[in-house]
Amino acid sequence: METPSRYTITAALPYTNGPIHIGHLAGVYVPADIYTRFLRMQGRDVAFVCGSDEHGVPITIKAKKEGVSPQDIVDKYHKIIKKSFEDFGISFNNYSRTSAEIHHKTASEFFKKLYDDGKFTEETNQQLYDAEADQFLADRFVVGTCPKCGFEESYGDQCEKCGTSHNAMDLINPKSAITGATPTLKETRHWFLPLDQYESWLKKWILVEHKKDWKPNVYGQVKSWIDDGLRARAVTRDLDWGIPVPVEGGEGKVLYVWFDAPIGYISSTKEWAEETGKDWEPYWKDKNTKLVHFIGKDNIVFHCIIFPAMLKAEGSYNLPENVPANEFLNLEGKKLSTSKNWAVWLHEYLKDFPGQQDVLRYALTANAPETKDNDFTWKDFQARNNNELVAIFGNFINRVLVLTNKYYDGIVPSPNEYSEIDEQVLAELRAYPAVIASSIDRYRFREAQAELMNVARLGNKYLADEEPWKLIKTDEERVKTIMYVALQIASALASLSEPFLPFTAEKLKKMLDYGKSSSEAAASTSDIPSKDSEENEWEKIGQETELLPAGHQIGKAELLFSKIEDEQIQQQLDKLEATKAANEAENKKAEPQKETATFEDFTKMDLRVGTIVEASKMPKTNKLLVLKVDTGIDVRTIVSGIAQSFKPEDIIGRKVTVLVNLAPRKLRGVESEGMILMTENGEGKLVFVNPDEEGVKNGTVIS
Ligand code: MF3
Ligand code: ZN
Repeated sequence: METPSRYTITAALPYTNGPIHIGHLAGVYVPADIYTRFLRMQGRDVAFVCGSDEHGVPITIKAKKEGVSPQDIVDKYHKIIKKSFEDFGISFNNYSRTSAEIHHKTASEFFKKLYDDGKFTEETNQQLYDAEADQFLADRFVVGTCPKCGFEESYGDQCEKCGTSHNAMDLINPKSAITGATPTLKETRHWFLPLDQYESWLKKWILVEHKKDWKPNVYGQVKSWIDDGLRARAVTRDLDWGIPVPVEGGEGKVLYVWFDAPIGYISSTKEWAEETGKDWEPYWKDKNTKLVHFIGKDNIVFHCIIFPAMLKAEGSYNLPENVPANEFLNLEGKKLSTSKNWAVWLHEYLKDFPGQQDVLRYALTANAPETKDNDFTWKDFQARNNNELVAIFGNFINRVLVLTNKYYDGIVPSPNEYSEIDEQVLAELRAYPAVIASSIDRYRFREAQAELMNVARLGNKYLADEEPWKLIKTDEERVKTIMYVALQIASALASLSEPFLPFTAEKLKKMLDYGKSSSEAAASTSDIPSKDSEENEWEKIGQETELLPAGHQIGKAELLFSKIEDEQIQQQLDKLEATKAANEAENKKAEPQKETATFEDFTKMDLRVGTIVEASKMPKTNKLLVLKVDTGIDVRTIVSGIAQSFKPEDIIGRKVTVLVNLAPRKLRGVESEGMILMTENGEGKLVFVNPDEEGVKNGTVIS
């Protein structure tokens, strides 16, 4: 495709069973936003659409677990997700949701069209069924061994380990995720998309036409699935949460979530067009529109095979030009997980680091999992901020603004004749827009951002070499030229940083009173500027030497970035430690029940309420405390192995349960006459028996 006349950019609709975390951001939303902002700066016509994926089994399971309705779950998370994207500066034209009426209608009609055109096959066959839960077991309702890689916790529709998509019946040793029962079989009727019929077309379209321009990780996965042979996939389910199947015989059935969700891109575009008085159809059907899907690697099969086959079957839609899927981001060496709370949650980040959206954007792009899985660590985050944003970018800008204000009251000086170095630096500067654009065009965002930082480095080096602060005493005229050149670099940075660091770009533009800030640009047109009506800010930097003319008044210097201190990082690490401890406690299984005890056995034990009246550490040990306990019978000595959980001074006065007739025994020379009953709390710490204590689980042994 030469220069497309418009772009439709989609970002995977997030499942609405939890908030957004850094894995979603690094894999999908930050790269999609960089790409879109870059296109808009070039004056392109773009629809950047997304929305909440509100159907599907994970949402039903979460609702069951919390004892609320699926609608409650999606309402809760849709709100959190939408707000956190907005606050983070992900610049969707529209963020919709699949429970919206327009989506139900669009998806229903799409299904109906394929049905009417005879694009589905219908089959009645045996499906996995959980009799106890009265539920057919598809997708995430069933786990078992992956037939391809042997992973024992594969889901019914997809293996998280190897990414293979399969039918629930393919699982080896399937178990119900609801009751744990081994499923039985029950007959049911469903509609299937016969992917086998699309095999030769897919081969030509992807394996031939897109061999060169799709990322190797994406191309490789798709090729291996096609090589394995494609089979018909059911596109309906026996569930009650989802979009009702709109044809005869569809009662009690809904569309498969992966059938309806990608149609969400279309409904979101429609919703946006309705709100802005546009026509949605060219964004999906005009041949000069470029469709790009931003997704994570677990979505590849759906966006490269199933959804394209649906679009092809429908007949009037464009196919994606590219699907630049990313690999996964890990957190401190471990896989991110919503259910295990192993994540940095976006809405929490925004609270903990107010005004520092760009720092996270920067760190995630610098470490983006573009070609392989990558690791996010808080130390790296801190280093990226302190050593790069503050020390390179921020430092350069601050020097330029402070000196311009100091020497010229903030008025851009007129340059004198350029030296060879000036000419060189300006030529280098003019080359950057094309360099960065070429990386963005090829979806290499970390490379593009690294080039952006090189612009700041260029500026820093120029100032360090030319030393205007020294020359000001001997050659005022030369300093004018140097500061003029430095101000051009600063202005270029204000524009070129916009796709990556939109908040910074905006602040910098204000400080320089340069160009149109992105929020002004958005406010001044009803929506996105079209190619002809707005100048191409990006190209201008490549062509012109004068971005900020002599005589222009700039504003005051403000700090663009500030240092992140160790304490802030430690707090985040502590939070993760607490999650780890909680998960370990959660995973602990209750010990098996002991042998039966008779009533007589029980009455032999003399249990009394007592109060600790004295407590001290047993010398030379770190486990034992020596206690004096008032048992109501007497005050006696009890040695207890709880020194690692309690400080002596904290437990004096505590009421405890005491086994008073335990045979006395000597511990380190001190006679202990009884035992205090203890148990464990949620973090594995010893606590006095009090089942109401925070975190004490059922089945925890008292001893
Ligand atoms: N909800 C899915 C996920 O988070 C992505 C859906 S993308 C769409 O993995 F194409 F279906 F919308
Ligand atoms: Zn597998």
